[in-house]
Amino acid sequence: MANKKTVAVLYGGKSAEYDISIQTAFSAINAIDLNKFRVLPIHITNNGKWIQGHEILEKIAYKDQLLLDEPQAKVSPALWLTPTSDPSSSQTPDIVFPLLHGTNGEDGTVQGMLELLNIAYVGSGVMGSAAGMDKVIMKDIFAAHGIQGPHYVSVTKYEWTNNQDEMIKMIEEKIGFPNFVKPANLGSSVGISQCLDESTIVKAVDEALRYDTKVIVEEKIVGREVEIGVIGNDELEVSVPGEIQTTGTFYDYQSKYQDGKSRMIIPADLPEDVLIELKTTAKKVFKVLNCKGLARVDVFIQESDHKVMVNEVNTLPGFTPFSMFPLLWKHTGLPYDKLIEKLIQLGIDRHQEKQTLRFRLED
Ligand SMILES: Nc1ncnc2c1ncn2[C@@H]1O[C@H](COP(=O)(O)OP(=O)(O)O)[C@@H](O)[C@H]1O
Ligand SMILES: [Mg+2]
Repeated sequence: MANKKTVAVLYGGKSAEYDISIQTAFSAINAIDLNKFRVLPIHITNNGKWIQGHEILEKIAYKDQLLLDEPQAKVSPALWLTPTSDPSSSQTPDIVFPLLHGTNGEDGTVQGMLELLNIAYVGSGVMGSAAGMDKVIMKDIFAAHGIQGPHYVSVTKYEWTNNQDEMIKMIEEKIGFPNFVKPANLGSSVGISQCLDESTIVKAVDEALRYDTKVIVEEKIVGREVEIGVIGNDELEVSVPGEIQTTGTFYDYQSKYQDGKSRMIIPADLPEDVLIELKTTAKKVFKVLNCKGLARVDVFIQESDHKVMVNEVNTLPGFTPFSMFPLLWKHTGLPYDKLIEKLIQLGIDRHQEKQTLRFRLED
């Protein structure tokens, strides 16, 4: 087919979520229709090296084939700026699909680089990505827009080191117990503890501060955990909701990836009025955070009053065919391969729209 668009798939990354990203890339690349797109794999190693492979011409048999190593074209994040003698590796893609999670991928850094290079990409821009990564900034924005969620406070490493007693008092007064203590910028439940009383708060904050210089402490919400997908740039579509049920104390790292003890129920069985509130809230959340392309909005349906309490937004949610986000869309009528195609198109549309903006005053 003439005029095939070139999609560069970025995966791996300098992040705790490296392995899951490789798994995602394996599934996503195999789902892209090679009759419609040229696919260029770019492996970001766990220590941050960018390595571009050759165009993918047929389905990949094993995910380890994606672990491109040094003898192949070795490049830097400035890949498309660096002249090289290998024309296939210097080709600027029509669009980049970042299949990266967490820091250096979901947080606006990669997006900023792509903006500077004026290359289209899938998903939220710098602002939406960064705001969706920092739980304190995200919740400040929700609060400013009247979006309900757990009460929270934030504590920086500096404040904790210099004023620990005062900080503990502040947490007790404003949040109380039980509460959840989390690093402000992370995912996959890493560094998160549930604190039942004051005896564990010091340990919980110390633990979260191992991963970030800022922590968030939140009131515990008792209720059901529900997730919903949103796609679009300006005109938004929402998926059916899905519920997470876990047998552990909360949806921690083990229950997410290791012990298989959590279940996804799709669609979540919710009363009509709750469903309407959830869909409206999800679209509002997407809009106020400046999300683009896709996001998964995670909420609690509070047990006492069935209110939708927003927990967080993931701007590059888990994306294997067995992850919540693609499954939600599958149940909504958009299968995995069509979802990927749609997200690519949304990224191209957004980029084209930006090309029409003026960057200088008229003469
Ligand atoms: N305020 C809260 N009340 C009740 N449970 C919570 C709260 N915050 C987090 N949790 C539990 O911890 C899990 C991980 O927290 P979350 O904020 O979603 O972090 P992550 O970004 O690592 O997914 C949630 O899925 C939920 O099970
Ligand atoms: Mg979460």
